[in-house]
Amino acid sequence: MKKIIVANWKLNPDSPREARELFVKIKRTVSRLKRVETVICPPAIFLPDLEKARGAAKKLALGGQDAFPALDGAWTGQISPAMIRKSGARYLILGHSERRAQGDTDELINQKLKLALAQGLKVILCVGEKTRDPQGHYLQTIKTQLLTALEKVPRKLASQLIIAYEPVWAIGDAAKFSDTPAGFLEQAIYIRKILSIWIEQKAAMQVPVLYGGSVDARNALGFLTEGQADGLLVGRASLRADIFGEILKLADALA
Ligand code: PGA
Repeated sequence: MKKIIVANWKLNPDSPREARELFVKIKRTVSRLKRVETVICPPAIFLPDLEKARGAAKKLALGGQDAFPALDGAWTGQISPAMIRKSGARYLILGHSERRAQGDTDELINQKLKLALAQGLKVILCVGEKTRDPQGHYLQTIKTQLLTALEKVPRKLASQLIIAYEPVWAIGDAAKFSDTPAGFLEQAIYIRKILSIWIEQKAAMQVPVLYGGSVDARNALGFLTEGQADGLLVGRASLRADIFGEILKLADALA
């Protein structure tokens, strides 16, 4: 399976100009690569301009970071999955821990997910525990996150789904460590086991499972090889064209 490398730019960069500059640098690297699928998720306001800058680039796609679970109406400040799709995105991140911290429940994520899939977006559903307790309660957290988000989601849409396992303790500046490749691999096996409650086991094996949380150019290869990750969800390191380019090259050489 080809690797999927996703950049989550979060609330960065500061201006359309900087966004375009960063995007164009990444596009230059991607144009020299053959197999890896690169997905850039900028703030939604930059999507139309970056879609123009993308042009006919192959293996380079755009994604949104979140969307509201309605297509129109009196919802000040919100952006619908259809708007994201029509602004050039093919992917959508949902359930990121930073959204969950702002109030996204599993039920809300389920509503967003159903609408986003119906709009033809590929959804990158983030799951992950806040702490990894030795009693293993965190496994129940991941199970609930997955099964609630996927409730009443038609099985035939499974090919539009990607899971990103992102332990919250490994994300962002406050994180002391990333997970280990072996730790990730265990979670990926568990995630596929839970997915096989929803879809057949064979189909569950086809759902890409990515790792996210303090990914950089030094640990990326370990997750992709020893950890057998189908790809990576990259935060801070995706804002550095040089480091992100290194990660893309590593993934391309494997895919
Ligand atoms: P990080 O963020 O790579 O900066 O830890 C990852 C994420 O939040 O998706």
